[in-house]
Amino acid sequence: MRQIGVVGTGTMGRGIIQLLLQAGHELHFHDSTPGAAAQAAEYVLGMLRRVLDKGKMSASEFEALPARMHACDTLAGLAHCDIVIEAIVEDLSVKTELFRKLEGLVADSAILATNTSSLLVSAIAAGCRHPGRVAGLHFFNPVPLMKVAEVIPGVRTDAATVAALATLISDAGHRAVIAADQPGFLVNHAGRGLYTEGLRIVEESVASPAEVDQVLKHAAGFRMGPFELLDLTGLDVSGKVMQSIYDQFQHEPRFRPSPLVPPRIAAGLLGRKSLRGWYTYAGEKKEEMLERSYSAWPNRLRVWLDPQADEKPAMLQLLSTAAVQALDLEEVASAADADLIVIQCWGWDATGYCAAHGLDATRCVAIDPLPGFARHRTLMLTATTRSEVRDCAAALFRADGTSITVINDSCGFIAQRVLAMIVNIASDIAQRRIAAVADIEDAVTLGLGYPFGPLTWGDRIGPARVLQVLSRLQASTGDPRYRPSPWLRRRAALGCSLLSPEPARFQ
Ligand code: NAI
Repeated sequence: MRQIGVVGTGTMGRGIIQLLLQAGHELHFHDSTPGAAAQAAEYVLGMLRRVLDKGKMSASEFEALPARMHACDTLAGLAHCDIVIEAIVEDLSVKTELFRKLEGLVADSAILATNTSSLLVSAIAAGCRHPGRVAGLHFFNPVPLMKVAEVIPGVRTDAATVAALATLISDAGHRAVIAADQPGFLVNHAGRGLYTEGLRIVEESVASPAEVDQVLKHAAGFRMGPFELLDLTGLDVSGKVMQSIYDQFQHEPRFRPSPLVPPRIAAGLLGRKSLRGWYTYAGEKKEEMLERSYSAWPNRLRVWLDPQADEKPAMLQLLSTAAVQALDLEEVASAADADLIVIQCWGWDATGYCAAHGLDATRCVAIDPLPGFARHRTLMLTATTRSEVRDCAAALFRADGTSITVINDSCGFIAQRVLAMIVNIASDIAQRRIAAVADIEDAVTLGLGYPFGPLTWGDRIGPARVLQVLSRLQASTGDPRYRPSPWLRRRAALGCSLLSPEPARFQ
């Protein structure tokens, strides 16, 4: 058992107190708002009573808790703590002043940690006499349920400080990941791609926000799409984070905020809290997307499947099902004889692919090979696909009950683009040694709830394919946001896993 201090007993402070109490430590906590620390004690006990009611804690354990909780009226009550964790207002001068006061109270051996989400740990530590004992300890809300915390050494933090905090976290049953003192640390840095690319796709009129969310949930397995997440957090809050990370990374194009955001903030379309954001809400409930209807092809439909399509066998099987046969179609051997031309491609836009392969773009529809044919089908139109061709393709590819989304032309479909961006950003995190490979993977699955770690995801798609999507996007847009990370480029060139670390240079 250790003596742990927590300063600031708001949302995060309360969660931290609960987690470390459950881990068996003695907690001393203070808040500058009179009465707030005592209220926090009540709140935490209430939360732990729920744990008791669920049978996850014994009655004797619960009864012993109050003796290990000390709400302190003054900061001096934390003087004998081994570790003090700060979770006060996000303001550098207020935090620096608090650390200065703490240093005057605690023993020289005590560790001081900050839960800052956006300030430099090194800047907070710089005001201290012993910066070696100061580190970031970044939790996620709600702390007891989000089973990861980032330990962030400032430039002058001692290795022993990092090790002690990592042990505190892992002993409490959370995964401790080590992240460099860089903007967004690890989780918020790795999570950028979902938003920036989602917004970019809408900017280019490839699809609506609801369609982007639909594809990313159905095809890629995200729990929530970027626009649902932005509505949940509030665009005012997320907009500031997007701008701040972009500014702190010296205007790195990968993090460039979308011009779609400021007018929406100005108009008050903030999300759930204003009942209008990217979606409209009736109380807690989000309005659902309308099912589109498509008109049927008037006579026998002749379909040509590109022999280079990854999933041609699955498509042929679909054509042979009764539901599709009822649409009255036949597969033809030549694109010239077809009413509907079906292609599949990585990184290409449908128009570019038709032009390169001499296919008639007015009769063409592309299907994203990424999610797997049985899971979800994203149908991409060329710049000139005729509406009746679009309609018959939609009818055909959803005839077996599989969900579809029809989008406009785009180099790389929605899932290809967003995943390529996520893999590329994670690759650059590894390249810059902001975090180790295993920490990147665990931080993203635990902190962001993605179904796979980003580098594992890149391996599943194939590093060469991810590279191809990014290279084509970069070539077609000229935008440096798509430039591939050297980590990705090198591993794709050698055909090895994105999880393979850099070799050690010295023994
Ligand atoms: P909050 O507003 O819920 O709580 C902050 C508490 O600190 C308040 O009770 C306030 O009275 C107290 N306080 C302010 N100045 C103080 C001082 N000088 N001394 C003692 N107490 C003081 O804020 P929240 O959300 O808990 O955030 C706290 C910190 O954690 C911030 O640095 C924030 O950036 C960071 N953070 C927040 C996350 C979140 O999801 N809310 C996630 C991760 C980090």
